[in-house]
Order: sequence, then C-alpha cells, then structure tokens
Amino acid sequence: MSGANPFLDPARQEELYGHASRLAGRSNALMRAKTTGRPVPDTIVGLVRAHHERPDRLGLVLDLGCGRGTSSLTFAQELRPRRVVGLDAAPALIEHALQRARRMPGLPVSFLQGDFHLLPVAAGSCDVVVAAFCLYHSPRPQTVVAEIDRALAPGGLAVLVTKGLDSYREMDQLVAAAGLDPRAEEHESLYVSAHSGNLAGLAAVSLDVLAVEDEEHSFTFDCHDHVAEYLATNPKYDLAPGLYGNPGALAAPLHEFVPDRPLTTQSIVTFVVARSRGGRP
Ligand SMILES: C[S@@+](CC[C@H](N)C(=O)[O-])C[C@H]1O[C@@H](n2cnc3c(N)ncnc32)[C@H](O)[C@@H]1O
Repeated sequence: MSGANPFLDPARQEELYGHASRLAGRSNALMRAKTTGRPVPDTIVGLVRAHHERPDRLGLVLDLGCGRGTSSLTFAQELRPRRVVGLDAAPALIEHALQRARRMPGLPVSFLQGDFHLLPVAAGSCDVVVAAFCLYHSPRPQTVVAEIDRALAPGGLAVLVTKGLDSYREMDQLVAAAGLDPRAEEHESLYVSAHSGNLAGLAAVSLDVLAVEDEEHSFTFDCHDHVAEYLATNPKYDLAPGLYGNPGALAAPLHEFVPDRPLTTQSIVTFVVARSRGGRP
C-alpha cells in the first residue's frame, strides 16, 4: 500500500469513509483509550462563545467534513443557532448523520453531501464555519480556507482543528517492532497537508487569526487487542494481505512478537480561531 499519502489520495477515500462503521470503530477505540484532553466538540463550542461577538444569536453554523455528525449535533444543542449544516463528501456518513438527527426531532440541524473546496452556500451567509480533523484530506487546504472566508459573514468566525505531524508515533514503533511493517516509522505523516505546525499560517492568508491553542491529548490502550482495533483502521502502513481492516488478524502477530502491555501515545490537537476580515485587506 505504498505510494501517495492515503489521506490525500482520492482513490482511497471510499475505503476510508465509504462505511460509517470504520470511522465509528476507529473513534470508539481511540476514545476508550483517552486519558487526557478535552472533548473536541465542547472545546469548539467554548471557543465560539469566547470569540464570537454575539454567540447567543448565531445564524448559520457550517460544519465541514462533519463525518457522522457528532460535532454538528453538539453545536446545534449547545450553541442553539438558527441552523447547523453539516457538509461531508462521503454519502454513507451523511446518511448516518441524517439518521442520528432524525432521532433528535426539533434540533435545527441538516446534513448535505458536498466538497469543501466549493461550498454550497452564499457569500457572507455563515456566522461560524468549523473544519475539524478534515483539512488534512485536502491537497489544497488553502482553497478551502479561501472558501471559508467567502462563506463567512463580516465578523464571522472560523474554527480549524488538526493534529500534530508526529501523532501516535508510539504506534509506529510498535508496528515496526512486531515486524508488521518494518518501515512503519518512515512513512509520511497522514496530517502533512494541514497539521499543528502550519494550520495558523494557512488561516492567516485569508483570515485574521485570533487564537491558537495546542492541547496534548494522551491515550493508553489497555492491551494489544485494543491497539489492534485502532491500527486495523490506519491506512498508513504496508501490511501483509488480510491484516488491514481486520483487528483479530492484526492482533495475532502483535501477541506473537511483542509482550502484551498497555501502550501510551500522544497527539497534539491544535485549535485555530480566525475571523473574517469582512472586506478589509
Ligand atoms: C476524520 S473525519 C472528521 C470528522 C469530524 N469532523 C470529526 O471531527 O470527528 C474527516 C472527514 O472529512 C471528510 N472529507 C474528506 N475530504 C472531503 C472533501 N473534499 N469535502 C468534504 N468532506 C471531506 C471525510 O469524508 C470525513 O468524514
């Protein structure tokens, strides 16, 4: 599976986001392991309340790359804007998000399939645009930021969120030590196009950056079986056929070649809050 960075390869997006179950399995394994770090949707809500001029009277909130809709639902419940629209390229995830929203009648949230390089909203129509853990899927994140700028009303806020380049590197070490992929530590980071080190710079080209927060998130996976649940969804390794997507098969060589023990790993999560210049240069 070598070649283009899998997070940037259009041919691999169906494999990554074609079924809601992969993203759910990945998130569940990671969240069970989490020991420090605030819940990201709640942190975004706090940043909007702290930086928007009228957070209690928000109009449209756009959640780009909304995935299964978890953040969009939180924004609708906590910020109570006129409407939240979650946008995602993956039809299966939009369908899943719509099903979740149907179980919460009355919540002002809707979901749309679309590409964040060309936002299906009028210029100046959004009070808040969020892009959490998705800009690293774009080979042209600058284009997405320019679209966010176009979509924002004067004084509107963008909240961009990503991870550090070397997130979860202890997992790479484990994969290499178990001989699953001897080059595991040499692959390009999945987050190379939009990461903790370049996110504020990306935002600053079109927007006024108001705040940058780096937060260390720590994770302790109980045992090899738990790590394998997460690793099985990680497209970055060159694994033997039959291992990718198969936690049971992946756990077997881990047990065989490395003593079973908890694995602790970290990721820096970076939040950038930026404001539309509203016509100012
Ligand atoms: C890791 S998920 C993040 C989900 C959610 N924002 C969160 O914080 O959990 C990345 C999402 O970006 C979406 N995505 C990737 N490329 C996209 C594009 N060009 N336009 C819209 N969404 C895209 C994927 O389909 C996926 O749902």
